[in-house]
Amino acid sequence: MKIAVLGTGYVGLVSSAVFAEIGHQVIGLDIDKSKISQLKKGRVPIYEPGLETLLQKHLNSGRLIFTTDYAQAIKDAELIFICVGTPPKPDGSYDSKYVYSAAKSIAGHLTQYAVIVIKSTVPPSTTNEVRKIIQANTSVAFDLASTPEFLREGSAVNDALHPARIILGVESSKAETWLRKAHHQLSAPILVTTPASAQLIKYASNAMLATKISFINAMAILCDKIGADIKAVTRGLGLDPRIGQSFLNAGLGYGGSCFPKDTWALIAYAKSLGYDFNFLKQVDQVNNDQIDYFISKIKSAYPDGIKGKVLTILGLAFKPNTDDQREARSTILINKLKKLGVIIHAYDPVIKTEFSDPYMALINADGLVLVTEWQEFNDLNFTRIKRSMKQPIIFDGRNFFNPGKLRKLKFQYFGIGRQ
Ligand SMILES: NC(=O)c1ccc[n+]([C@@H]2O[C@H](COP(=O)([O-])OP(=O)(O)OC[C@H]3O[C@@H](n4cnc5c(N)ncnc54)[C@H](O)[C@@H]3O)[C@@H](O)[C@H]2O)c1
Repeated sequence: MKIAVLGTGYVGLVSSAVFAEIGHQVIGLDIDKSKISQLKKGRVPIYEPGLETLLQKHLNSGRLIFTTDYAQAIKDAELIFICVGTPPKPDGSYDSKYVYSAAKSIAGHLTQYAVIVIKSTVPPSTTNEVRKIIQANTSVAFDLASTPEFLREGSAVNDALHPARIILGVESSKAETWLRKAHHQLSAPILVTTPASAQLIKYASNAMLATKISFINAMAILCDKIGADIKAVTRGLGLDPRIGQSFLNAGLGYGGSCFPKDTWALIAYAKSLGYDFNFLKQVDQVNNDQIDYFISKIKSAYPDGIKGKVLTILGLAFKPNTDDQREARSTILINKLKKLGVIIHAYDPVIKTEFSDPYMALINADGLVLVTEWQEFNDLNFTRIKRSMKQPIIFDGRNFFNPGKLRKLKFQYFGIGRQ
């Protein structure tokens, strides 16, 4: 099929490459000229494993091209996927301006019937607004649909090629048929529903995952209070097949471009409907408090105060295998520590800092603070690290290291909910 993908960020770029991989003719569009000029040369402006190879494969196969020209992208497209950003506004509600602007641009260039699909994460009220904008700017017939995206940064290509489910929110049988055809190569269960339900499925999924994380973080605080082990509690809890193990790792809490903003957007959307989503506010609150809780642990390790201490942050990305720092826990933590007078050294495997490796970043440090559990941190030589640090203290914000092993090396170890 002929597919236009609007917005070539994490979702749009991966979707473009994957639609090309499964046999479609794809045109990716962005308003960011420098991004498009890099993509045309086969360079991926983000870090996402496997993406550059797939991109180059389909630039070569001719199934994927890029443009900044709406007329070129829209004129032959049968399916138009809106994948633009939906960042939060200061009040937590989502900023619709990119989606509405894309809708207006589509309408201005529509020459034949197309199915316009909102893939960006948006509240259900958006569909009608988008419809109004398009109808006000064209007389060409179209259908609206919604196919929320569930890929995870860091494994986005694999997730998009092997999704756990495909949600088709449609208003006509023609849109359903075309969207089924677009996804026919993917072997995942397909759920056909309305756009509103599809959009709520997306928000509910992220809110549920955020809830699991905040729940286990609250349990970890109880573990700290009585000397219990959150790892054992989680293992035991997760052996219940009704609960499972996933998303129950106590730590610094969730960040990233989705969980925080989608949680806030759902709270704001509920409010607009007259419902106080107090439950989700608490999930968000626990997540915010977790940083302060961790800082209180850091403070407790320095009886002479933390002002002037050098702390080395390992991991800046909001999670491993990405370079995305949106709402990263590292940023919030670092800002708070700096306000307390801490001197920050930082290292991340893909985000450039003044240090070229973790060992350099740890020289003369008063503490190591693990924020993002990149696998390479598991292979660190702690004997070497201990020799170069000023004080051998480790704050493990992801319960990632083996405390027994570190204590044997005479490190002081602080995890979350574990001794
Ligand atoms: N990043 C994820 O892991 C993820 C996962 C699932 C869903 N989502 C959702 O997908 C959407 C996109 O997220 P993202 O992380 O890819 O965002 P992003 O910020 O990485 O990319 C958005 C892109 O849209 C472009 N853009 C803005 N306005 C435009 C317009 N009018 N026309 C064309 N392009 C325009 C921007 O230049 C940018 O390149 C969001 O709603 C997000 O919540 C993201």
